[in-house]
Amino acid sequence: MARLAEKTTSSENQPAVSNTVISFNDVAKEYDKGIPAVNHINFQIERGEFVFIVGESGSGKSTLIKLMLREIKPTKGKIIINGRDLNKLKKWQIAKYRRKIGVVFQNYRLLADRTVYENVAFAQRVIEAPPEQIKKATPRMLSQVGLSSKTKSFPGELSGGEQQRVAIARALINNPVILLADEPTGNLDQKNTDEIMNLLLDINKHGTTVIIVTHDHEMVKRLKKRVITVRNGFIVSDHKAADGKAPDLDDIEEEIRREAEEEDNKSGDEMAIDYIDVFDTNDYDE
Ligand SMILES: Nc1ncnc2c1ncn2[C@@H]1O[C@H](COP(=O)(O)OP(=O)(O)O)[C@@H](O)[C@H]1O
Ligand SMILES: [Mg+2]
Repeated sequence: MARLAEKTTSSENQPAVSNTVISFNDVAKEYDKGIPAVNHINFQIERGEFVFIVGESGSGKSTLIKLMLREIKPTKGKIIINGRDLNKLKKWQIAKYRRKIGVVFQNYRLLADRTVYENVAFAQRVIEAPPEQIKKATPRMLSQVGLSSKTKSFPGELSGGEQQRVAIARALINNPVILLADEPTGNLDQKNTDEIMNLLLDINKHGTTVIIVTHDHEMVKRLKKRVITVRNGFIVSDHKAADGKAPDLDDIEEEIRREAEEEDNKSGDEMAIDYIDVFDTNDYDE
């Protein structure tokens, strides 16, 4: 299995580094010149890890998420995610890169004028998934998040917890390697928070790397997962998960195989579809 992983990465001219899926190397981001929002950020995340990022409001948590999405570029340092050096991504590569990253926000960000089914199906249409596949995958995913009875509802007819489950289904439908969640339970009561967290834990058990920004300290303490603490833009602590659970290598192997298959089946045009070109996406090379 390790051999397969190594082969896949080296054939793309990426460093054949173990199971690291996210790597920050002395990263800094200044929005306003001279005032870094984050600085000297160093961490590695392995495939299959479940990681909390915690810290006070304004400490730089969302900046880290935006850097991982390549929504913003670092002022300094290097970020490698899923074998890609984010500083070197061309515009068309950014869209393709983001397909491997699922993302969930505090305010759900659903399409208000589309049904639950359409919200999830849309994410697949954007990447031109075959209609047959969409018809099969959408109900299956909605069932997985417990929303089979709500497929025809509109977001405004759902509770906050249900809306967030739609957002999670949408984030997962294209099999991302990583799920990023920025305060996913920030608008939810305790019961819905627990339900969403259980769902995220379950997703992680099936092999997806999950990174959650939160300031729910009770939850973080209870779950005993890895916790990265940010203060004033610096990482001030990084505690490993108490359970020391290693990622499931069978899942990783399956994922690598599926990715390789998908890449083989893609045309250049398909790869160039720029489906979330709403951010600053200037081309640049180092
Ligand atoms: N687009 C922006 N322009 C200027 N400053 C920003 C911008 N976004 C965030 N900041 C600043 O960067 C710092 C970190 O913000 P952020 O990453 O949103 O923190 P958190 O998510 O932990 O609340 C804050 O001081 C914030 O005011
Ligand atoms: Mg934030």
